[in-house]
Amino acid sequence: MKRIVVLISGRGSNMRALFEAKLPATIAAVISNNPAAAGLEYARRHNVEARVVNHRDFPDRSSFDAALAAEVASFTPDLVVLAGFMRILTETFVTRFAGRMLNIHPSLLPAFTGVNTHQRALDEGVRLHGCTVHFVTATLDHGPIVIQAAVPVLPGDDEATLAARVLEQEHRIYPTAVRWLLEDKVSLEQGRVKFHGALCFPAAVISPAEQDKGPRTGQAREV
Ligand code: GRF
Repeated sequence: MKRIVVLISGRGSNMRALFEAKLPATIAAVISNNPAAAGLEYARRHNVEARVVNHRDFPDRSSFDAALAAEVASFTPDLVVLAGFMRILTETFVTRFAGRMLNIHPSLLPAFTGVNTHQRALDEGVRLHGCTVHFVTATLDHGPIVIQAAVPVLPGDDEATLAARVLEQEHRIYPTAVRWLLEDKVSLEQGRVKFHGALCFPAAVISPAEQDKGPRTGQAREV
């Protein structure tokens, strides 16, 4: 069984979606930089190791990163999954887990990197917004894209309604992307995402027209 370590900083709803997806893997640990992260309690209730590496206990970013990397590595993960992890990781950390670390970002990258993505999308008046799962590289919110889901920005939307519409899609695409990696349907080759086997590439593109369909099982659609 492959092993996953999930990094969180807060509420942990994407982490919960991963727990609920019945992935073909062991969630070996949930680690947070924030001792108050709600997701830690959820992990404990599900008998998963929940650890804290508090960035406030370290004098600088590199010493925090070194401690975090050691904690992550102690669980010998095949995959490191950032699920609302709000610390910028150093190049050393990213290099150590290169090709086996994913992040989810609440925008259609490369638009709206960083924070406050939903309000910025509203301010720009875009018609399409969404979310992206990508491999983590040393550049914040960049990195080869695995899957994206788009949602319409509707008249009358505010930050909360738009965020909720995007979050629903996050909970679909993150388990899908993680499953693809676990099943070797996706890999990173020379900085590009490569799809293998019978995986239908269009499954990596979720358009607004598809949102009425039920939750994804994480299985690739075949043609
Ligand atoms: C999500 O919107 C995710 O895309 C972003 O941070 C948020 C975390 O939410 N990186 P949750 O903790 O998974 O509920």
